[in-house]
Amino acid sequence: MTATQFFVIVLGAGLGVAAAQGPTLPPGAAQQQVAFTCTGCHTLDRICAAQKSAPEWKATVDQMIRNGAVLTPAQAGQVVQYLAAHFRPKPPAPPARRGHTRASQPVAQP
Ligand code: HEC
Repeated sequence: MTATQFFVIVLGAGLGVAAAQGPTLPPGAAQQQVAFTCTGCHTLDRICAAQKSAPEWKATVDQMIRNGAVLTPAQAGQVVQYLAAHFRPKPPAPPARRGHTRASQPVAQP
């Protein structure tokens, strides 16, 4: 087998392991709490895929408590802080540079 074939096999095996484990939580105060409480009904996928502000996470965690998640108010506060710190909206893309787009220039009328 060539070195390239070997590399492809090793890489493929590595990806398979990563996919089987699913997303992992970043370290933080409430990491264990989230891993323990928030995986009872669904995987971490939907948490790690979400991007919410602190008030949005509070609403989500309140909704999960109504769904049946077991958290004291103090634990819920820590979970909201943790989620809001790690799974927040990405900063908006920098504004496009002015004066470089043709579309913004007036169109000459015939
Ligand atoms: C008792 C079951 C249960 C537990 C425990 C639970 N969830 Fe959920 N979760 C659901 C259900 C059911 C849905 C889909 C329906 C809905 O949105 O309520 C959901 C959907 C979600 C969604 C996607 C919808 C949205 O509003 O963005 C997120 C994010 C989420 N859960 C986060 C969490 C977090 C964080 C925790 C831990 C605090 C948690 N869940 C614990 C049942 C649960």
